[in-house]
Amino acid sequence: MFLTPRWISLFAAVLVATITVVFLGFVPQVDAGMLFVAGIASFFSTFFFFYYIIDLLVFREVNQIYATIQKLKINDFSISRKNLIKSVNPLKKLNREISNYVSKKEEQIDELKRMEIFRREFLADVSHELKTPIFAAQGFVHTLLDGALEDPEVAERFLKKAAKSLDGLDVLVRDLVVLSQVETGDMKMNFVQVELVEMVRDIFEQLEKKASKRGTVMLLKPRNIKSVFVLADAQRLSQVLTNLIENGIKYGKDAGKVVVELTEENKKVLISVEDDGPGIPAEFLPRIFERFFRVDKSRSRETGGTGLGLAIVKHILNAHNTTINVTSKIDKGTRFTFTLTRPMRELAINP
Ligand SMILES: Nc1ncnc2c1ncn2[C@@H]1O[C@H](COP(=O)(O)OP(=O)(O)OP(=O)(O)O)[C@@H](O)[C@H]1O
Ligand SMILES: [Mg+2]
Repeated sequence: MFLTPRWISLFAAVLVATITVVFLGFVPQVDAGMLFVAGIASFFSTFFFFYYIIDLLVFREVNQIYATIQKLKINDFSISRKNLIKSVNPLKKLNREISNYVSKKEEQIDELKRMEIFRREFLADVSHELKTPIFAAQGFVHTLLDGALEDPEVAERFLKKAAKSLDGLDVLVRDLVVLSQVETGDMKMNFVQVELVEMVRDIFEQLEKKASKRGTVMLLKPRNIKSVFVLADAQRLSQVLTNLIENGIKYGKDAGKVVVELTEENKKVLISVEDDGPGIPAEFLPRIFERFFRVDKSRSRETGGTGLGLAIVKHILNAHNTTINVTSKIDKGTRFTFTLTRPMRELAINP
């Protein structure tokens, strides 16, 4: 506090005035009136002189820095000239502000670099994923044009294969559109009261063919459950559950089990989808929600997976203000869980 320009000037002024008055006091001709005038005069002149010099020096430096900042159009510089002048050591404070600013900028640059790498990798992944079905379909069509058309049996087989590749391409592009919509926030969520028991049974029905091919049994627990209501976007939630249950069938074991469990809590419903399959190695668990990430690439491609399913699940659930958790044990199985809010109205009727 005592190192501000005002206090320094005051201290110097008192010192100079005291010395002047003391020395003049030894001169016999000088009377009290003259001593008083000399004291006052030396006090004020020293005070204003010091004050002006300190201010001038600090101001000049700060003004120069200000001019540079203005020239660079740096708007987020949180420096105030008034504070600087008042502060104990203005240049130190300025220095601190500048290093804060630089480290903030460095963080932003790091983030931009990370995003750039992510964008590049994503583009490479997308082109790679698109290339596979396009090349396959192209190959079949060209073989047909090159003469395979003559044999109707071969022609039909090739056309079917081309159609399958194009269907895969269609699924991939649709998934990419959904993903980009949820990510950019373009997808408007339509939150309504959703009944989960019926939704899960519908999904079981849709996946029945796939499940019976592998001998998988799908179960809803508790067995005697009647109805469970949550607030959600019905179509998106169905997409989430479909992917989780389908993953349980696809990546579970033959003749395995996929169990969906709904647990009503106070204001929430805990939803869990569990299988008794081979599980996911711990080192891959944090990565399974990344786009295009597959634990076993060949197995996943065989089953027609795009590797976008869980990335979409994560984003949809984030848009529901909830997060998805996963636990997995090798050779025991995998369990995905998340919670959703119960609607107020239903809570009032059936607390
Ligand atoms: N229940 C599970 N058990 C074992 N591995 C799983 C399970 N669920 C997901 N995975 C692994 O996580 C990867 C990512 O799953 P995700 O649903 O994102 O993609 P996908 O099923 O391959 O493709 P898509 O869902 O787009 O059809 C899968 O390829 C698989 O390796
Ligand atoms: Mg999937």
